[in-house]
Amino acid sequence: MKIIGIIGAMEEEVAILKEKMTEVTVYCKADMEFFRGNLNGKEAVVVRSGIGKVNAGICTQILVDEFQVDAVINTGIAGSLKNEINIGDIVLSTDTMQHDVDAREFGYPLGQIPRMDTLAFPADEGLRALAAKVCREVNPEIQVFEGRVVSGDQFVADAGKKDAIVKNTQGWCTEMEGGAIAQAAYLNHIPYLVIRAISDKADNSAHMDYPAFEKQAIRHSVNLVENMMKEL
Ligand code: ADE
Repeated sequence: MKIIGIIGAMEEEVAILKEKMTEVTVYCKADMEFFRGNLNGKEAVVVRSGIGKVNAGICTQILVDEFQVDAVINTGIAGSLKNEINIGDIVLSTDTMQHDVDAREFGYPLGQIPRMDTLAFPADEGLRALAAKVCREVNPEIQVFEGRVVSGDQFVADAGKKDAIVKNTQGWCTEMEGGAIAQAAYLNHIPYLVIRAISDKADNSAHMDYPAFEKQAIRHSVNLVENMMKEL
């Protein structure tokens, strides 16, 4: 792979990566700043997409059109959907789907985009295996899980809502961009991986946990992405 796109929704999720880049040039489009340069020996484009699926989808398409990226990695934080996945742990996407898509009226399962040929978008197995290996090396104090990441334009902070998402999607963590990045990658036939560190449990304590653990979670995810670069 020659050039990797790295997307974080929020500035906090990409700031450290941008600081570590050398030979940087900046390109602006759709109110987003694309930082192209060398990250730990690999050519990369690091960008803050903004929050939510539409921003993330637009951002991914720009990475494909303007930079011809060979793969996209989404780094960030998420709410855990499983008891054993704790705050600070990492989830790597096996696949990704959108929990807020609802066309059941037309016979589609919850989450499936009408007239698309898949319910969930499979992530790249090679990127995932590399991320799992590197994560154990650089973040030995946390657990790394491989499972389904689910996305919606909602911050999930309610136990009932969380239970419904789990029942409908069998997701392992929930966030607000990965499903759109995955969809854009799928349509453009490029590999992708979502890497999310857990900042909260997507339940009634999420509003308190999120600000308390956001920084710690971001550190794990960024540390992993940075260290993956030299092996890509
Ligand atoms: N990102 C981090 N925590 C989240 C949550 N609980 N819901 C949606 N996105 C998140």
